[in-house]
Amino acid sequence: MRRRVAAALAAGVLGLPASAAADGAKTYAAQCSVCHQVGGVGQAGVYPRLAGRAPEMAKTPAGRKLMIAAALFGMAGKLEVDGQSLMGVMPGFASKMTDAEIAEVLTYVAGLGAKAGGKSAAAFTAQEVAEARAGPKLSPTAVNALARGVVVK
Ligand code: HEC
Repeated sequence: MRRRVAAALAAGVLGLPASAAADGAKTYAAQCSVCHQVGGVGQAGVYPRLAGRAPEMAKTPAGRKLMIAAALFGMAGKLEVDGQSLMGVMPGFASKMTDAEIAEVLTYVAGLGAKAGGKSAAAFTAQEVAEARAGPKLSPTAVNALARGVVVK
């Protein structure tokens, strides 16, 4: 924990992107995997699978907007995943995580189960997250409504 804080501070001060990927994986393990599971496989009918879906979402502006909003503000409501509908609640991380941390964890998530040989999604940037944070604060149900415009298989 101490080490992570020290590394985060060093990265922040020096603006080092070097360990961003490793930090994204660590943040995922600490903050997201309890629900979305290791590797983002999710839990049918309860927690949406991110593996294979997030890499596709992250390729469209609407998908990126949804991912950033879910991470910042949380998400709640009915969601259709793999032909099953779930009623989920995810907490927001706006007060717990910096823009850079959110960008790193979403970049990590966008690589989970990505098709081999396919074109990968662009990395998320702290700038993108900062813009969403500075915009209107969405309720978790408003974030869920954003999913209507995002088609993922
Ligand atoms: C307490 C459980 C929980 C935690 C912790 C959690 N999530 Fe979620 N997440 C959910 C649920 C449930 C949904 C679906 C919400 C809904 O039904 O509207 C969701 C939705 C999402 C979505 C949108 C998926 C879609 O198909 O539209 C993304 C992206 C996401 N989470 C990423 C993350 C990331 C990144 C983290 C860690 C920083 C995280 N989640 C932490 C439970 C969680």
